[in-house]
Amino acid sequence: MSTCYNPFTLEGKTILVTGASSGIGRQIAIDCSKMGANLIISGRDEIRLNETLSNLAGEGHVALTADLSDMSQIENLVSQIAGIDGAVLSAGRGLTRPVQFSSPDKMNEVFQINFFSTAELIRLLYKSKKAKKNASIVIIDSIAGITDVSPGTSVYGATKAALNSFSKYCALEFAVRKIRVNCICPGMIETPLIHRGTLTEEQLQEDAKRYPCGRYGRPEDVSNGAIYLLSDASSWVTGTSLFIDGGISI
Ligand SMILES: NC(=O)c1ccc[n+]([C@@H]2O[C@H](COP(=O)([O-])OP(=O)(O)OC[C@H]3O[C@@H](n4cnc5c(N)ncnc54)[C@H](OP(=O)(O)O)[C@@H]3O)[C@@H](O)[C@H]2O)c1
Repeated sequence: MSTCYNPFTLEGKTILVTGASSGIGRQIAIDCSKMGANLIISGRDEIRLNETLSNLAGEGHVALTADLSDMSQIENLVSQIAGIDGAVLSAGRGLTRPVQFSSPDKMNEVFQINFFSTAELIRLLYKSKKAKKNASIVIIDSIAGITDVSPGTSVYGATKAALNSFSKYCALEFAVRKIRVNCICPGMIETPLIHRGTLTEEQLQEDAKRYPCGRYGRPEDVSNGAIYLLSDASSWVTGTSLFIDGGISI
């Protein structure tokens, strides 16, 4: 009798990961490959994307560069995909800026990649039927704008709250094809993104102490959740948000 009971396997699944050239998306791509998936990875920076590609377990993975803030590049990306059993949409950026300095231009810039591009990619994957029956779509959302409302993160938080809302409509409408749509809402995760904000290294270390689990998250904390949501272990889970936040939302 086999001793390899594994409800979380991704064996035989083709998974698209955006934002795979860095941070959370990169870790998710690597860990999904270790779980047996075939990966289609996307990012803007070709060198860092290829670094991820070279770290994937197994053979036959594909890297496709695209700037997803450009709608024609989203179309082009979808046209290069034959079919997927899952997608993790991790491409995104931060912004730390008080409301009074959040001009429409700045808002557009952040909404473009965090919300509009993610929504458009989901729309095209569904409409073109590239997202196959039973596919699982996982959006890397945030606690920002949902359980965490901190000064200076209004625009970023609003993009993430919009995604959270949008995901539930998709979950409802896509259920007819048994396609599931869920969000992961991470707290602060150790990636390059958090070091590009306005907090100093000392302030980040101090902030991490507020977390009940005693530390910021690691990319693998998020990828373990993504594996669950991509796998058949979560086949009765849709329209939900998985908070991976070291307890900070309690
Ligand atoms: N780190 C955190 O604390 C945290 C917490 C909650 C949620 N999140 C969310 O997690 C996601 C990933 O963030 P991260 O922490 O992994 O940050 P990261 O290390 O900076 O990675 C961001 C990724 O998004 C890609 N990206 C950005 N703009 C893009 C564009 N216009 N077109 C295509 N790809 C683009 C980047 O590609 P290139 O590098 O190739 O340009 C990179 O692969 C984001 O959506 C972020 O909001 C992060």
